[in-house]
Amino acid sequence: MAERRTTVIGPRRQDRSAGATAIAHPNIALVKYWGKRDEQLMLPRTDSLSMTLDIFPTTTRVRLDADAGSDAVTFNGEAATGEAQRRIVAFLDLVRERAGSSRRAVVDTENTVPTGAGLASSASGFAALAVAAAAAYGLGLDATALSRLARRGSGSASRSLFGGFAVWHAGPAATSGVEADLSSYAEPVAAARLDPALVIAVVNAGPKAVSSRTAMRRTVDTSPLYAPWAASSGDDLTAMRAALVRGDLEAVGEIAERNALGMHATMLAARPAVRYLSPATLTVLDSVLELRRAGIAAYATMDAGPNVKVLCRRGDAERVAHAVRAAAAGGAVHIAGPGPGARLLPGQAP
Ligand code: PMV
Repeated sequence: MAERRTTVIGPRRQDRSAGATAIAHPNIALVKYWGKRDEQLMLPRTDSLSMTLDIFPTTTRVRLDADAGSDAVTFNGEAATGEAQRRIVAFLDLVRERAGSSRRAVVDTENTVPTGAGLASSASGFAALAVAAAAAYGLGLDATALSRLARRGSGSASRSLFGGFAVWHAGPAATSGVEADLSSYAEPVAAARLDPALVIAVVNAGPKAVSSRTAMRRTVDTSPLYAPWAASSGDDLTAMRAALVRGDLEAVGEIAERNALGMHATMLAARPAVRYLSPATLTVLDSVLELRRAGIAAYATMDAGPNVKVLCRRGDAERVAHAVRAAAAGGAVHIAGPGPGARLLPGQAP
């Protein structure tokens, strides 16, 4: 299951005038990232661990334009605007600073995540952008450096550099600046063959009321439950790594479910509360309990939204999808397995 660091990334350098295209997949955290200790460097307060999916890839092409006065960014053929555009330009500025370049870029992104699926499209998005932009600007970065770079766009993107399971190290809390930046990256995690699936129940495809960035900040600043959850999350990570090595899907699921419910508890205790879970979420959680009572290993996790991802064995995925679909009140249900890490697509230079 574990992927070696050397297998992830394609060519190290490309012609400075050429463009580059990269593909990356979303990841779902089984031990969550919730809370930053440095918002500018995107340094988390805790380690996290995720599974990269084999569905909903993002493909991003970056070309340099010597004559342009500004970056041009499209999403699925439409010009990007507002906050999305601002975050991408800020990310490109970081890449340009490292490359010693002032050339502007044309960025075209094709995102296959259904709108509002509640999947971290920012994870696949910034992982693909990091790989494509680093290549287009001629930065010869290895997978660890690309993970650190992707982190600056969106924290969870650092994990989408790798296939299968990946851990994102928070780095020592006492460090800051360059030292801290160097110490916070993701890497593949050793795992026995688990043959897992994540069944994704989309109970609400609408936009979230509070961004994860705002919700994290408020939780860290005001929730009396944040510190205890962060401490127990460290224990969850240790137990999760051991469960993955053993190939113990029940333990992986139990740890993932308690870690996610704990994260949501921290938000519910924030002032004012942040509540992403809806009545439909709870109905799906009930169906997961029913599945367990019927002897099916099924465990739920939720992110910054009401949608539920259910971890189960691949062989049980259709049955779990059936049960969850009935509970999801007409929402779409998708089945994902472990997917590949981010990579450059060959032969895409213009
Ligand atoms: O990277 P962001 O800002 O999209 O934050 C992601 C946070 C969670 O999805 C809730 C948890 C995680 O570890 O992915």
